[in-house]
Amino acid sequence: MSTAHQLAPLPGDEIPEGMQLATRGTANPLDAIEQDLRTAIFGQNRAIESVIRAMNRARYGFAAGNRNRPLVNLMFLGPTGVGKSECAKRLASRLHPEGGGFLKVDCSLFSQGHEVSALVGAPPSYVGRDQKPLLDPDIIETENSVLLFDEIEKGTSELWNLLLQIMEDGEVTLLNSGRTVSFRNTILIMTTNVGAKEMVDYLDKRNIGFRSTRQDMEATGQQIFQIGFEALQRHFRPEWINRIDEIIAFRPLSSATMSRIFDRMIDEANGQYINYGVKVDVSEAAKDHILRKGYNPTFGARPLRARLLKDLDAPLADLLASGGIPQGSRVLVAFNGNETFGEELSFYFQPDAELEAQGRKRRDTAAQTKKRATAPQESKSPPSSQGPAMAKSIDGSHRR
Ligand SMILES: Nc1ncnc2c1ncn2[C@@H]1O[C@H](COP(=O)(O)OP(=O)(O)OP(=O)(O)O)[C@@H](O)[C@H]1O
Ligand SMILES: [Mg+2]
Repeated sequence: MSTAHQLAPLPGDEIPEGMQLATRGTANPLDAIEQDLRTAIFGQNRAIESVIRAMNRARYGFAAGNRNRPLVNLMFLGPTGVGKSECAKRLASRLHPEGGGFLKVDCSLFSQGHEVSALVGAPPSYVGRDQKPLLDPDIIETENSVLLFDEIEKGTSELWNLLLQIMEDGEVTLLNSGRTVSFRNTILIMTTNVGAKEMVDYLDKRNIGFRSTRQDMEATGQQIFQIGFEALQRHFRPEWINRIDEIIAFRPLSSATMSRIFDRMIDEANGQYINYGVKVDVSEAAKDHILRKGYNPTFGARPLRARLLKDLDAPLADLLASGGIPQGSRVLVAFNGNETFGEELSFYFQPDAELEAQGRKRRDTAAQTKKRATAPQESKSPPSSQGPAMAKSIDGSHRR
């Protein structure tokens, strides 16, 4: 028998009269954002939950007492092609549906110390003094701006020092103008692939493949986080890592997740094909076949897109161009059942007058829009006063 069974149960608390039991309400505007992220980024619910939790805490200024920092400092960790950058971009477009408020810094472009001046401006008498620094205060000081530093491990130590200053002081002085940029209304997101090589070795060793179960992927995800975290510790000083509010692990993608991404990619592709009156369905067997070929947990969803370009887009374009499929057709992509001989997928079609009409309408509208865009403008219409449904502020309050 375990010791737990031998202990006397703890008595429950007596709740004073007049106290009500608190349950979660439905008023949090971040719930809708979480929902939206889940519909766009598949198989990363835990990561999304962590992002929302951190943002929620930030809204109330509960973060560690120091308010002279960005709203929240997040680090997205994980293998390549699993939705890290996509998640940051989606969050930005949800918070700023009308555009703006989003800045992405591709850290691989800052592998030399002096290149950091492109971010903060060059001091007087230096070359490039007239160039506008990339850290644009107009964007960064927008409420709830999202600042994405992508693939930070590829940057120089000067860049990391700059990041440390942003994370710690929440402000940076631009060297060309002397103006101070405040990051106090910014959601800082850094992404990294550190440990990717070890992650790949680990995945290879565990033989994680197309038919791995959700549990396999879950356990793998935890291990991936550990590998990434240890790599992060090797790469960055502890005082640097300690400035991060939350390190969020993105998991390798399971085959079920890849299947959902596949469906979405086909939907997106159909959005293009309809311009030619074509709608494509992919049979289950053909989908399975493409997924098998395009599945590689080491590279996430990236190889799948390449696979679709090769197996679907290219032959379809050729069939349309050569007259093998007429515009205005319902197309079925089927698997031949033989993987050993070259052509594994076949395209079948059925002419469809309705699709043909839809395609023609699309092309006419596109042509008219183009004509209007190139025609000389007589007068500019005033900007619409109707804002998008999502308010810019996530809670309506300013922190200053
Ligand atoms: N979890 C996912 N759900 C939906 N789509 C995804 C997911 N992961 C990746 N994708 C698709 O793959 C593309 C590449 O993903 P993304 O740019 O987010 O990769 P990443 O994790 O940032 O990789 P890297 O570390 O190489 O930058 C996305 O544009 C998206 O189309
Ligand atoms: Mg990325």
